[in-house]
Amino acid sequence: MTTSVGIHTYLEQQRERVETALKSVFPTNGFIPTQLREAMDYSLLAGGKRLRPIFVLAASQAVSGEEQASERALPFACAVEMIHTYSLIHDDLPAMDNDDYRRGRLTNHKVFGEAMGILAGDGLLTHAFHVVTRAAASGVPPERVLAVVQELSALAGVQGMVGGQVEDMLGEQGVTTLEQLENIHLHKTSDLIAFSLRAGGHAADADNKQLDAFGLYGRNVGLAFQIQDDILDLTGTTEKLGKPVKSDERQEKVTYPFLLGMDESRKRVARLTNEANETLLQAGLAAPDRLIEIANYLLSRDH
Ligand code: IPE
Ligand code: IPE
Ligand code: MG
Ligand code: MG
Ligand code: MG
Repeated sequence: MTTSVGIHTYLEQQRERVETALKSVFPTNGFIPTQLREAMDYSLLAGGKRLRPIFVLAASQAVSGEEQASERALPFACAVEMIHTYSLIHDDLPAMDNDDYRRGRLTNHKVFGEAMGILAGDGLLTHAFHVVTRAAASGVPPERVLAVVQELSALAGVQGMVGGQVEDMLGEQGVTTLEQLENIHLHKTSDLIAFSLRAGGHAADADNKQLDAFGLYGRNVGLAFQIQDDILDLTGTTEKLGKPVKSDERQEKVTYPFLLGMDESRKRVARLTNEANETLLQAGLAAPDRLIEIANYLLSRDH
């Protein structure tokens, strides 16, 4: 396949596609309290890189070989962004990372209060599963939708992201080992990214070999992404990141730079990215190029 637009344009186009779809995830009629709706939209439509939904679309496209992923993958893309957004709202709460800025604006609880922030997260999480089921109406076979529900509940849930966030909260400088930290990052961040890739695969009728490769690529890209997030917490700027820097230091978090230093952390990001890309080349995909481009692009991200 020849890729007709550059990676920046591609990411921008897919981001816009996701943004448009996100605007109609909630019903416009029927009962949703106004404050709840405002609080959910405030964070969901605040921007953000939309990386996870873009991974859904790009994985779908890698299987089909088509230049644009079909509309079939869009419900999965929206659902994962809803779950990611809920995780950020809760992650910023005073009881967790206690941060005041996110996606370039005040955090949800700073604007709507803690109770509404918690409930807005609950609302996004629950409705995400409704949105997943919409894929059946857009042509995804029911058994694939069922597989996506199972994978999402595991990878975003107690065995996945929620479990990882718990271990992250329990981590302690001077106690948590590198092996334990890797496990935290794999669950709190890689699992949802691995889900995104596999969901895109399901939407395009991927075979098991392709799904396994997506899982492994997601694991390694996700780990690289979270190490980079730890690095940017120290070296980035609030303007670029849209969230506070040095939050990890303030909270005395265990991070890769804390345990390994900056140089070794950067080397790991590069190594994991290469490993991720290698996996894709052996998966019999019609067009792995975009996913490889995305992984390489993330290497030099500053936000
Ligand atoms: C932030 O995720 C939380 C992590 C798991 C590192 P992103 O860096 O993808 O945040 P947004 O979606 O672009 O705001
Ligand atoms: C958060 O990790 C991972 C989530 C599941 C939300 P961080 O706490 O490092 O994310 P940021 O730096 O606040 O975005
Ligand atoms: Mg956190
Ligand atoms: Mg945080
Ligand atoms: Mg962070």
